[in-house]
Amino acid sequence: MIDKATIDRIFLTADIAEVIGEYVHLKKTGQNFKGFSPFKTEKTPSFFVSPSKGIFKCFSSGIGGNVVTFLMEHEKLSYPEALRMLAKKYNIEIQEKAETPEEKEVQNERESLLSVNQFALNYFMETLGTEEGKAVGRSYLAERGIHDITTQKFMIGYSREDKYAFTRKAADKGFKMDYLVKTGLVIQHENNTFDRFHGRIIFPIHGLSGQVVGFAGRIMKSADKIAKYINSPESEIYHKGDILYGLFFARQSVLKNDKCFLVEGYTDVISMHQCGIENVVASSGTSLTVNQIRLVKRFTHNITVLYDGDEAGIKASLRGIDILLEEGLNVRVVLLPAGEDPDSFARSGGSTAFTNYIAAKETDFITFKVNLLAKEAESDPIKKATLINEVLRSVSVIPESIIRSVYIRECARIFNINESILYNETARLRRNKISQRESPGSYRPPEPLMPVAHQPAVRTPEKYNAEKEIIRLIILYEGSTLSLQDKSGTHYESTVIDFFINEIEHDELDFHHPVYSEIYREIKKLASEGKKGLEQYFVTYPDNIIAKTVVDLITSAYDLSRIWKKFETYFETEEMRLGEVAHEALLSFKNEMVIRMIKEAEVELRHAQDSADIDRMNSVQTRFLALNELKRSISKGLGDRIIVSSGE
Ligand code: CTP
Ligand code: MN
Repeated sequence: MIDKATIDRIFLTADIAEVIGEYVHLKKTGQNFKGFSPFKTEKTPSFFVSPSKGIFKCFSSGIGGNVVTFLMEHEKLSYPEALRMLAKKYNIEIQEKAETPEEKEVQNERESLLSVNQFALNYFMETLGTEEGKAVGRSYLAERGIHDITTQKFMIGYSREDKYAFTRKAADKGFKMDYLVKTGLVIQHENNTFDRFHGRIIFPIHGLSGQVVGFAGRIMKSADKIAKYINSPESEIYHKGDILYGLFFARQSVLKNDKCFLVEGYTDVISMHQCGIENVVASSGTSLTVNQIRLVKRFTHNITVLYDGDEAGIKASLRGIDILLEEGLNVRVVLLPAGEDPDSFARSGGSTAFTNYIAAKETDFITFKVNLLAKEAESDPIKKATLINEVLRSVSVIPESIIRSVYIRECARIFNINESILYNETARLRRNKISQRESPGSYRPPEPLMPVAHQPAVRTPEKYNAEKEIIRLIILYEGSTLSLQDKSGTHYESTVIDFFINEIEHDELDFHHPVYSEIYREIKKLASEGKKGLEQYFVTYPDNIIAKTVVDLITSAYDLSRIWKKFETYFETEEMRLGEVAHEALLSFKNEMVIRMIKEAEVELRHAQDSADIDRMNSVQTRFLALNELKRSISKGLGDRIIVSSGE
């Protein structure tokens, strides 16, 4: 690891115009440089470099970034490779991050374990192609309808019946027994060492950047005594609670669809891919952990849980969903027909039937829970009270008050109970929850996304425009002062950054686009540490996606003027109107959230009508009305505070 001070020095020293000038013929225009895009053939130059900001932007391809991301993009380098290249050019000595001997040892061990796994992966894949592998493994896969191309994609392998086969091979290759045992590939029992996964089909488990961190093995015949699946044990590289099976294969599709399906099993993920649905991950049969949810949250805030269709199973897992709500995810559910799991259903119905089924049955989670429980409650008033409480528990963990209020209205109508009672009860549940939640649990920081040079471009769907606008305003005008007036007419002043943070926290709002919510979290952290200089901070941010997003923001329409100093007056207009602009942004932020929910409710309503599902129609209708009322009050409303004017 290159240490942070070295990285800072590289950014400080590297002259972006000089570096890019080696690849692109640049001409000086004012303070900036201009040239033909190296990414796209063009007739008029639309590639700009701004040394003062340390950024480049290509307006024909949309690619932009800092000096490091330029090298990553243009030379197809990884982040550390690009840094090292610059360090060499500018004679900067690289300080590797000072590691204690223990840290070094852990790092070495991680690398050794990963290389053992890589060897095992190749071995299992090759073994699937041998006589035994074909006769036993391939025929099993064929029986299950898993095609060769899918087998290759998921790197499915086979481990021989002979329980010493792998252990012998790996030892011959010189892998240390200690590491073989630590990865769990080999079991040591007294003086005997043998293969954990022998006689099984092997599903490798990938980390976010594609490294194989563990394996799962499935037996191919049904046997009572033996576990159907066995998994790698916990190790330095494999923490079951931090991994979602399939995320590595799903992430592009999750980003593209702004949505992720959650299933239970390995074969569910695999069959859905085969059906053309690639934005799917599996919890691997256990209940979800916060770390797993945060992994998904970096790619999308919309999650749809596919349930096997038996009622007992559903009830057991309802509680588990609350943790998704609590993390601020927008949760929907699809109930599969009785006796089917996603794997069997995908295979029996085929791709179109499966997709149509999901589209028709996808339901908002709270509505789903209300209806599921309301049926039971009809005839039994005591039961009704417990069930209402059960539903309110889910409502109470939702972080945003706007969304909670909509669901409270929905519950009030369905259970035929006074709304204010439900409000009070929800508030009580929230207070209890907050006092309980003193121990934050073992949060492991997320694996950085930076080593991948060719990240998919993050295009912001229109539905997140207001989030984008708020981030843009905070980054560009962080310290500028707004003069404000509260409800009682008292004047006060606030910086742009404080204004947004206070308003957002006060109304318990949340960002829903994964990249903006990560940027916002970072902004809050910096603000709480009293750090300034957001623009510089984010432009050189190690996570490529974030750096690029911020460069895009600050080079968007308005700021072209700021950078290229052409439309000075236009740009001044925004700054002079800053108070108004900030206020509008906040209102559209709320509005955007409500509109998004209205759109979803519309779709749900249509499907409920199509399937003549009266219960669902009723509850969605209530939500729909509540949302529209909310929308009206937002468009009328000027929130609590009125902005008078702004100035530096
Ligand atoms: N699981 C496990 N160990 C077991 C049983 C299950 O780790 N002994 C996990 C696996 O990740 C499995 C998931 O729980 O995929 C769901 O279990 P189950 O529904 O029993 O299996 P399926 O995924 O349906 O697997 P298959 O279709 O191969 O039977
Ligand atoms: Mn199954």
